[in-house]
Amino acid sequence: MDLMMQWRVFPLLSLLASFLFFYIKTSSKPSYNLCSMIPYDTYTITSKNIVTPQGIISGSVEVKGGYILSVIKGNYSSGIDSSGFVIDYGDAVVMPGLIDVHSHLDEPGKSEWEGFESGTKAAAAGGITTLIDMPLNSVPSTVSVDALRLKLDAAKENIYVDVGFWGGLVPDNAFDVTALKGLLDAGVLGLKSFMCPSGINDFPMTNASHIKEGLHVLAKYRRPLLVHAEVQLDSESTESVKDGVVTLDPTQRILKLGLLQWKKQPLENC
Ligand SMILES: *[C@@H]1O[C@H](CO)[C@@H](O)[C@H](O)[C@H]1NC(C)=O
Ligand SMILES: *[C@@H]1O[C@H](CO)[C@@H](O)[C@H](O)[C@H]1NC(C)=O
Repeated sequence: MDLMMQWRVFPLLSLLASFLFFYIKTSSKPSYNLCSMIPYDTYTITSKNIVTPQGIISGSVEVKGGYILSVIKGNYSSGIDSSGFVIDYGDAVVMPGLIDVHSHLDEPGKSEWEGFESGTKAAAAGGITTLIDMPLNSVPSTVSVDALRLKLDAAKENIYVDVGFWGGLVPDNAFDVTALKGLLDAGVLGLKSFMCPSGINDFPMTNASHIKEGLHVLAKYRRPLLVHAEVQLDSESTESVKDGVVTLDPTQRILKLGLLQWKKQPLENC
């Protein structure tokens, strides 16, 4: 091979080599549970600050196939199978994942505010492993099965923690039992409504009748109603003056609407 030829073949060879390397690297995926970010089936996490129901301990957490096998208190450097993979987090806190039931992952429509990728990555970084998405701020709002499907499509392969969805209770669907059941059957975890203007055009406020209708359906599913319980007592709410409950605070008004079975459940107020 003359020198010229060598100089032509060399870059080609290195291209081929890097292609092969990349191909082998991406095609030989390790066999571990995809839910885990750690590429080992069995491993041990150690830390001086493991949060347990009995308090904060120094010890180790043994994991196999995605399940916690044991949480052991004590000097974590002894007693660990030396063939196993050990990640020592030192003083860093090891704790169960947090659940944030009030997040706005505004996709589709307003991903410049927050999207599935940025929102769920931020959650993971902060120790939150489940987010429940509010039904407004996306375009459209999650007030129909079609809108929920758009959300699911946007979320697909784009999320880094578990995500659930709230649906919206609005005047448009409140008297439509089929529509509300459709949303609940499609998987929303409950419904959210506003007692004052929400500031979002396709998410108008609900009055007492809408909330009452929504509660009837929700009670059958035993899922909660979340209410932005802020009542404007001026022009918007002549209704509340008429029905004589104007002196009650918003939470009391909801309870008065036949919400007795939910009385012990926390009501959202923001
Ligand atoms: C833990 O055990 C190792 C050896 O098993 C020992 O070297 C180390 O000093 C112990 N640490 C504490 C804090 O007891
Ligand atoms: C609530 O609004 C609906 C229209 O969407 C109306 O039919 C109903 O009478 C109103 N209920 C109250 C208590 O104002």
